[in-house]
Amino acid sequence: MSLNTLKIGIIGLGNMSGAILKGLLKAGVLPENVVGMASSPQQATLRQAEYGVTCTTLELAQDALSQVDLLILGVKPFVMPAVLADLEGITLKAKAVVVSIAAGTTLATIGESLPNTAIVRAMPNTPALVGQGFSALSANAYVDENQKKLAESVFEAVGKAVWLEEGQINAFTGLFGSGPAYVFYIMEALVEAGLAEGLAPDLVEAGVLQLVKGSALLLEARATTASQLKAEVVTPNGTTAKGLEALAAADVSGALVDAVHAATRRAEELSKNV
Ligand SMILES: NC(=O)c1ccc[n+]([C@@H]2O[C@H](COP(=O)([O-])OP(=O)(O)OC[C@H]3O[C@@H](n4cnc5c(N)ncnc54)[C@H](OP(=O)(O)O)[C@@H]3O)[C@@H](O)[C@H]2O)c1
Repeated sequence: MSLNTLKIGIIGLGNMSGAILKGLLKAGVLPENVVGMASSPQQATLRQAEYGVTCTTLELAQDALSQVDLLILGVKPFVMPAVLADLEGITLKAKAVVVSIAAGTTLATIGESLPNTAIVRAMPNTPALVGQGFSALSANAYVDENQKKLAESVFEAVGKAVWLEEGQINAFTGLFGSGPAYVFYIMEALVEAGLAEGLAPDLVEAGVLQLVKGSALLLEARATTASQLKAEVVTPNGTTAKGLEALAAADVSGALVDAVHAATRRAEELSKNV
């Protein structure tokens, strides 16, 4: 199905689903084919002005819902039980696909409210807000190849997307969902380090951004490994060698492994409680 004929419903037009909507509109979805659903008529008015698509509430959108090809569930995990309960009486189109971005809410939980329905559970990350996200997608048994392509195109509108078994979503969350915060943590530390060496704040802030951006683009352009590019910067007994020795002595790589492990365990705990 081409994007310019696709009818889309979005429940909860917040940061993440708002970014997805912007990506979809840029990719060719027509604003008149989208209906957004907010928490109240007042909020719907605000979202309508913000995104330029019709917005209403779930209660008032029953007719529109029965016509959508794609229904995105974009509310916070704690709001999901109420939204799923409201969806129980709804008849969706036979070929409609439901895509949830709620962290921790499983395909089985969504399927209890929407039986015999094609459902995709997605885990995007915040660089999706600038079209550079990395999203994991898992499908239930009702999702066919065309619906898979459709779900993929939603997340490719805001970056890259991969398919995973649902059992790996927690690990994906611990590494890539939380990952932007690890990168920002390292950037913060480098800014502190530059200031401690007497460099000017403006120079250090802009420089650390350019450092991370330039390094990522270099890695992409060279299509090699980070290890290889790291080795290319090192001269024996040179400056980088001394810096890397300090990182190894503090076991910074071990700390990052611990961070991903802790976040993955927490994602597991949260998905048991949702
Ligand atoms: N941000 C991330 O890094 C990230 C990453 C992966 C997954 N996610 C998932 O994405 C989802 C949304 O996160 P977010 O950061 O975009 O949150 P958010 O900005 O708070 O968006 C949620 C939206 O839901 C709306 N809402 C609340 N109750 C509603 C209801 N009953 N019916 C319709 N809309 C309702 C809220 O707006 P109004 O009250 O104005 O209607 C709000 O705009 C979460 O489930 C989160 O787990 C986020």
